[in-house]
Amino acid sequence: MAAHGCFITFEGPEGSGKTSQAEQLAGYLEEKGHEVVLTYEPGDTLVSKEIRKILLDPSSPQIDSRTELLLFAADRAQHVSEIIKEALIQNKVVLCCRYVDSTIAYQGYGRNIDLNLIQELNEIATGGLMPDLTVLLDLDVSLGLERAIRIRKEESASGDSDRMESQRIQFHEQVRKGFLSIANDNPDRVKVLDSSVPFEDVQNSIRSIVDEFLNQND
Ligand SMILES: Nc1ncnc2c1ncn2[C@@H]1O[C@H](COP(=O)(O)OP(=O)(O)OP(=O)(O)O)[C@@H](O)[C@H]1O
Ligand SMILES: [Mg+2]
Repeated sequence: MAAHGCFITFEGPEGSGKTSQAEQLAGYLEEKGHEVVLTYEPGDTLVSKEIRKILLDPSSPQIDSRTELLLFAADRAQHVSEIIKEALIQNKVVLCCRYVDSTIAYQGYGRNIDLNLIQELNEIATGGLMPDLTVLLDLDVSLGLERAIRIRKEESASGDSDRMESQRIQFHEQVRKGFLSIANDNPDRVKVLDSSVPFEDVQNSIRSIVDEFLNQND
């Protein structure tokens, strides 16, 4: 277990249900008496919000792949030190949407940056803090993008896609392949769930996995 609390990450392609599933799980765990911190990358600290703007703004000028990688790493370093570590020390359950696996999937598999370099950078940014458990919500990329774009239209006046969502479909296919490969290499930590089934079914599967994990590590 990381520090004292429990560190659970949610990973998966665009629109696969990370945010909405993590929110529901947070409510469930709180009802059971856990103290929960729900957080996300990029952008859940003041410094990170500025970085997120640059990373996701569709009008950002062409960002070099290495610049992008370093910005995500900078965001993560701040996030770990300011939010995640603190919460774990206070024995809380941390639910985090996107973490080191997203960098491997997007910058490694999507942008073809050397995987060893990314691992090293992840290590520097996190100080070696890895999740205890990772829920990988897997979904056909076109379906996920449709869902992500629909929710954006509901939430913002412009409804414009962000810089990542606007990447070619082949990019997203590579990202999905990357996530599945990470899961294959880390079967104890990463649990893959099919997110094409109804929302409640996915939520129930997540609850079973997390309940079992928390009971084992009580
Ligand atoms: N299993 C499901 N069946 C149908 N709709 C779903 C399912 N899971 C999530 N959705 C819907 O898909 C949309 C996108 O979900 P959500 O924003 O949680 O995904 P996300 O993975 O956090 O996306 P992003 O990568 O953009 O952060 C939401 O409208 C959500 O209600
Ligand atoms: Mg989300």
